Formats: sequence, C-alpha cells, structure tokens
Amino acid sequence: MRATSAVLTALTALSAYYVYSPLPSTVSEPWKLMLLDATFRCAQDLSNLAHYFGFSHHLRVLNFVSSYFDKLDPVSSEHLKVTDTVFDGVEVRIFEPKRGFDKNLKKAIVYIHGGGWALGSARMRSYDSLCRKISEDVNAVVVSIEYRLVPDVHFPEQLNDALAATKYFLLPEVLAEYSIDPLRIAVSGDSAGGNLAAAVCQQLALDSSVTTKVKLQALIYPVLQVLDFNTPSYQQNMDMPILSRFVMIKFWLDYLNGSHSFAHSMLVNNHTSLDLSETISLRELLNWNSLLPPSFKKNYKPVLQSQGTDKIISEVPALLDLRASPLIAKKESLQLLPKTYILTCEHDVLRDDGTMYAKRLEEAGVDVTHDHYEDGFHGCMLFATWPTYFSVGARTRDGYVKWLNENL
Ligand SMILES: *[C@@H]1O[C@H](CO)[C@@H](O)[C@H](O)[C@H]1NC(C)=O
Ligand SMILES: *[C@@H]1O[C@H](CO)[C@@H](O)[C@H](O)[C@H]1NC(C)=O
Repeated sequence: MRATSAVLTALTALSAYYVYSPLPSTVSEPWKLMLLDATFRCAQDLSNLAHYFGFSHHLRVLNFVSSYFDKLDPVSSEHLKVTDTVFDGVEVRIFEPKRGFDKNLKKAIVYIHGGGWALGSARMRSYDSLCRKISEDVNAVVVSIEYRLVPDVHFPEQLNDALAATKYFLLPEVLAEYSIDPLRIAVSGDSAGGNLAAAVCQQLALDSSVTTKVKLQALIYPVLQVLDFNTPSYQQNMDMPILSRFVMIKFWLDYLNGSHSFAHSMLVNNHTSLDLSETISLRELLNWNSLLPPSFKKNYKPVLQSQGTDKIISEVPALLDLRASPLIAKKESLQLLPKTYILTCEHDVLRDDGTMYAKRLEEAGVDVTHDHYEDGFHGCMLFATWPTYFSVGARTRDGYVKWLNENL
C-alpha cells in the first residue's frame, strides 16, 4: 500500500514536472497550453526513442502516429463537395462550396499546411476542418496541397510540389473547369506552409509563363529566414511552447538536409558571422534594428559573431537560398508581390520573421495588413475547436477569414 502510494506520488511529481513549464501570464490560457505542449513533447520524446532504437526516422514515427489517428477521407457535406485529386503529380484536397453560384465565377484559395516541412497533412483533422471552415465562411474553393515531406524529400522539393500544384491550378483551362474567377485567387499557408506560400508567390511573380496573377497572399505566423536565430522574438521565446528555438533550428536543418551537429553553432549565428562575405549583405536585408518597432526590440542585442563556422554554409549552401528564406528577396522582387496579410503572435519565435517581412513589403510599396496577437502563440490558429479550444485560436482564425472576405 505504502509502496503504491510512494510510486503514485513519484509519478504525479514526475508528470507535474513534465507538464509544468513556466509561461508568461499574458499568453492565452497558460495551463491549457502547458498540457498541449506536454502532449507534443511526449510524442516527440517517444518518437526520438523509437529513432534511437533504430525502428525508424523520428519524423516518420511522429507523422505515422499523428496521421494514423487523424487522417480523414474526403467527406462531402450539405455545404461542401470535398474531393482528393492530383495536380501535375502532386496530391491535393479540394473543398468546393455548393451554395449560391449559378452563373457567377468562384473565388479560390490555395492553402499550404504547416508542420516544419516534415509533419502535417491536408488530410489531417486539424487542416481538413480549417479548410472546410475557410471554404464555407469565405465561400471560396480551397485547394489544400499535400506536398511531400522530410525525410522522404528535402529542400527544394516541398517548394517544387507546392509550386507545381499552384501553377497547374492557375492554368486557364483548370480554372475554367472549377469555375474560378482568375482575378480572385489567394495563396495562403501557416508556419512552414507560410514559408512555402511566400516562396510560391515570389516564384510566380518572376515566372512569365504564368498568365494568371495571384490577387492576395495571406501568411499565418510564417517562417521566413534561416540566417538569424537571435531576433528579439527568438531570444524572448526560445523556450515557448509549442515551438522552441532549438526545435525550429532542427526543422530547418532537416528541410535543408544539413547535419543536426550544426544546430548549436547556428544557435549563436555562427553560420552568418562577419568573416563570411556571402552572408554580410544578406544579414543587412534582415537587420532587425531598423525593421522592428521599439516595442519588439526591447533591450535585446543583435548577435553577430566576428568569427564563425564556415563549414556550415559550405556543407549546407541552401542556407543562402532565397527560395528557403523569402525575407531576403531583393526589393525589386518584393515590388511584384500581391496585397498581403501577415499574422504574428507575441509568444512565438517567428514573430519577427513575419513582422520584418511586413515592413520590407511595405517599404517596397505593397499593401500590407499586419495583425499581431498579444496573447497568441505559435500554431494557435489550429486550436479553435474542442477539445483544444483557445480563445486566441478562434480570434486569429476569425480575423484571417474576415480579411479574406473583405479582400478576395
Ligand atoms: C542529404 O544528405 C545526405 C548526407 O549528407 C546525402 O547522402 C543525401 O544524398 C542528401 N540528400 C539530398 C536529397 O540531397
Ligand atoms: C563559433 O565559432 C567560433 C569561431 O570559429 C568557435 O570558436 C565557437 O566555438 C563556435 N561556437 C559554437 C557554439 O559552435
């Protein structure tokens, strides 16, 4: 009896320790977020364990577990026709509203899901329901792209998939097949999907073979650069759930097919030090001292090493590729981009990626709406329904839908 209670006490203490992570009181529903974070960490730890014992790649395990419980068939409803099909070799899930069209052409949104280029799926419950909601509320056709993931493919394949599917959809004959108005098309995505959406829009703007112009881009807490892991938001939120700085760096290294052994050097910006001539001009394009407002900069100091680790750039040259870091595109390219919506969250390492992009686009003359959520955390827009309801989740989603309704 006594032994059982001792074990129980120990287990309780252990799980409390596992669950408890101090969070600022300004974040939306901190206790719920701690629980959510503990669930994710537990899944991560278990998949790392499986990886360690040689069962499978940890990302494959994680993806298997999440999709096994969570992948949905395309189910139509009273309001929506939902189908899975293939666009130029890339799988997509299409949500078509049934009501109120007759002879009118429809609006469309190309949606690219998040998950660190390694996780998530257009078929996953969370993205399936988000796209249903967007499709119904905006009354638009949503094309959700099922691009291939790490570890099956690395950069630039995820982008190539997203770009190929989008370009196929933009072909006049395909738009006609779905009765889409070519003047009312948006490209959107969250997190790593926001990175792909931003890169897709930049590539499309430069591609003279594409005759249909995208009207809007909408980026939800996007990842936009891999050169500075010490922006004020990376410093402020380095241990914030559900995306810590170290986990973000590992997602980047997996995407760019670099060794995890570089992660600690990249933490101190050793990959973009002053002795590496290639990186100096690029770092200037994301000089947060001039791009961020004082309320974001606070007292954080830039981290610029005079000497770094040159091996990193030579082994992972994609670190300098603007298709991976849309934030470092030249002003001349940014000028070609469509009207933009950017959503950022205060408690997110990626807050400043999105904020700097909003500023650079504005400086290039693009019409930008930047919505910043003071109590938001990374990924919150997916948590807008029971059992993982957060008020900030519902507010971010509703604000995004409202902007699409007003602008598409
Ligand atoms: C990724 O890196 C590994 C090890 O460096 C290499 O063997 C492999 O060919 C690379 N894969 C791609 C797609 O570049
Ligand atoms: C960063 O680079 C310097 C100079 O090469 C080196 O001394 C230092 O150990 C590196 N730091 C990390 C964390 O790799």
